[in-house]
Formats: sequence, structure tokens, C-alpha cells
Amino acid sequence: MSGRIQLAPMEGLADHVLREVLSRVGGYDRATCEFVRVSGSLLPPRIYRRICPELDRGSRTGPGMPVAVQLLGSDPECMAENAAQLCALAPAGIDLNFGCPAKTVNRHGGGAMLLATPEVLYRVAAAIRKVVPRHIPYSAKMRLGVSDTSRALECAQALEAGGVEALAVHARTRDDGYRPPAHWEWIGRIRAAVSLPVIANGEIWSVADYLRCRAESGATDVMLGRGAVADPFLAQRIRTRADRAERDARSEWLELLPLVAEYWRLCQDKVAGRHAAGRLKSWLAWLRRRFPEAEALYGAIRTVNDPEATASLLRLHGVPVGAAAATGLA
Ligand SMILES: Cc1cc2nc3c(=O)[nH]c(=O)nc-3n(C[C@H](O)[C@H](O)[C@H](O)COP(=O)(O)O)c2cc1C
Repeated sequence: MSGRIQLAPMEGLADHVLREVLSRVGGYDRATCEFVRVSGSLLPPRIYRRICPELDRGSRTGPGMPVAVQLLGSDPECMAENAAQLCALAPAGIDLNFGCPAKTVNRHGGGAMLLATPEVLYRVAAAIRKVVPRHIPYSAKMRLGVSDTSRALECAQALEAGGVEALAVHARTRDDGYRPPAHWEWIGRIRAAVSLPVIANGEIWSVADYLRCRAESGATDVMLGRGAVADPFLAQRIRTRADRAERDARSEWLELLPLVAEYWRLCQDKVAGRHAAGRLKSWLAWLRRRFPEAEALYGAIRTVNDPEATASLLRLHGVPVGAAAATGLA
């Protein structure tokens, strides 16, 4: 059975520029934007629009991928007040973050720390449920726990009881950080403990990983994170069940070049010169995992921050900078 594929929220990595480019390659059913932190005050709409500019286009990327907005916080009333405000912007979904391992966030009791207190998860989820209209999809994303998995099932059940309609599970504890493996078998245990749709997340880098994850978790829907950044064709590959051995790596790189040009153009629209170069380097650093040509390009621009010099080097490596953004991709 074919399942749905979501693009994971990744703060500092999958911003609206990368979401735009990845949705041009296609294969994704939806995405969630990086978290918006709610801590005590009512956020003005411009904050949501800055993090998720797709809100101004029907909460979709140019090619039409719906983008949900993710909230992070621990105070039920304050979260609900902010969620109500967010609903007025008609997001393609509202998602709750119970997985962030960042110390600054955890110190204030947010993100993954809440997995120690399923009753708080319930209160947050239930308070927001009251203000999110039924036509807006309402979901949550969790890890397996803070230091161990002892309360993982309770957490999932608390979120279900609180009224979320779908649950993405990043199959690691907070203390696991991003260290492999992801414990996909735990996703199966959570699936057995709740009746809402569970989306499997963690360590899917290839079609082979995807198939193993589905077999071990029993989940049909997956969420791709770093694998999607390193390999923009991953969702398409999963859809056709064809890992790279069966495709021509060189032709894929050539297909990617106009998208690198588009990424560079959009980064420059978003941030000032040297920061745009930083964003490009960051993506190329991930692309090196899959594309040898990205290694050469990364090496060429690594120490350069000037936009003009960067653009010249990109052209030298075949990136059609300045050309019309005709990607030829769906
Ligand atoms: C740089 C980075 C930023 C992330 N930011 C978020 C975030 O804002 N919200 C969230 O729920 N998860 C966040 N995550 C976690 C991912 O959504 C995902 O759960 C995790 O990377 C595991 O999936 P993967 O192994 O496919 O990358 C982030 C991960 C990374 C690497």
C-alpha cells in the first residue's frame, strides 16, 4: 500500500526557501514549518508570516505543497490563545512540537521535556483542540521520551485524548539526540496503543531505509528530515521504489543544478549577501552525502562570502545562476 510522505520541520535547515525548492522536485504530500515558540505573550501575525510565508499563498508552496505551522510551548492557555490567532491566518495545519531537544527550549519546560509529564501534554493538546476548527488538520510530533521510553505510550495516548488527529513519532528519546539508530519498532508499539494515524520519522535516508521502517513500524505514512535535505529526490525515489543504483547519478545532478540556482536566488531575496552564501554552503554540505559534484562545488565556495564571487563560482560549476528558473521539474 502506498503511504503519504511528509517533509519534516527543521529549524535553521528547511526554511521556506528549501521547502519551495524541494516541493518543486515533488513527491511530498505536505510539510510542517520550523517551530514558532510561544512563551507568555500573544504573538503578532507577522511572526507566523515570517517563519511560514506560505501563509500568504493559501499556506502552500508555489507548486502547491501544503505547509502546516508548528507551535512549541507548555502553557495550555497561552498556547490556545496563540493557536486561535494563528487559525485566523488559515494554516494548512497546526502541529505541536514535543520533540525539540534544544537546551534553551527544554530549560523552560518546552519541547521534548514535556514528555516527562503526559498530563501536561494532555492539557496543552486539549486546550488547543477547543480553538482549532475541524477543517484545520491538528497534529503533534513527539520523541519517545526524555531519557528513556517508559512513558512513550502514555504520551501518545495523552495527545490522542487531548484531541490531536495525527501523530508523527521521531523514534528516539531526547537524550538520543540524532544518534542512529531510530527505534522504529517503538512506532509499532505506539500504533498499537492509539487509534489515530501515526507517521514514522527518523533515519530514513534511502528507499531501503523506508521499506525497513515501514516493515518494522507497520506505519504507512512517513516523515523525511535530513534525508530529504541530502537527497532532494528521496520522496520521488520512494514513490517509484527505485534507489539510486537504478538511476543515473550524473543526470540527477544535472537536474538539480537549476534548483541550486533557484535556491541561491531565493536565499538572496531572503537574507543579506554573506548570510545567503552561508545558507547555500549549509545545503551543499548536506548534498555532499549523495552527490560527489556537490563536494567539488562546496569546496569551491567554502571560503567565499561575496555574492558576486559566489555567483561566478556557481556558474563555473554549471549552476545556471541568473538564467530563467526553468527547472523542468513538476
Ligand atoms: C536542524 C534540525 C532542525 C530541526 N527542527 C525541528 C523543528 O523545528 N521542529 C520539530 O518538530 N523537529 C525538528 N527537527 C527534528 C526533525 O523534524 C526530525 O524529527 C529529525 O531530524 C529526525 O528525522 P530524520 O532522521 O529524517 O532527520 C529538527 C531536526 C534538525 C536536524
